[in-house]
Amino acid sequence: MAILKVMKLGSDVLRKRAVEIESHDLKKGRFKHFFDDLRETMAEYSGTGLAAPQVGTGVRAFLYMVDPGSRAKGAVEVPQTILVNPTFEPLDPEEVEDWEACLSVPFLAARVPRPRKVRVRALGENGKPLEFVADDFHARVVLHESDHLDGVVYLDRVRDRSSIRYTIDF
Ligand code: NI
Repeated sequence: MAILKVMKLGSDVLRKRAVEIESHDLKKGRFKHFFDDLRETMAEYSGTGLAAPQVGTGVRAFLYMVDPGSRAKGAVEVPQTILVNPTFEPLDPEEVEDWEACLSVPFLAARVPRPRKVRVRALGENGKPLEFVADDFHARVVLHESDHLDGVVYLDRVRDRSSIRYTIDF
């Protein structure tokens, strides 16, 4: 396994649409090594999510987790999960604003509006279809990571730009 370099805002790969992964490539384990590296890299940087383009690989896959012990107080726990070729269907027209940050946009955070509840369809890392409903912080995480597959970063979605702030003291 290896800790991969996390690309920062300004890298072309973060602004390109990533390409679909074929399910038979997942079934044959062709991405297993890459997914292991993604897991090791996310753990190294204490991330909540990490999308393939963030480590310079333009494919439609990301890793995420929801740890209710950290900032997502009261959230449902989601173990480390890889989603491939995800699609979304909004289930609640209400959008909610909350804080987001990103390993590719270090030292910043801002409030971002997101749909409160979505149905998610994707392939799992083994190539099997998955379908589930995500709400609140869980929905926010999967939508943030999914944006990376379309060349979008959370700053693009900030409505209240006065909320953009540094998270460290210089
Ligand atoms: Ni991000």
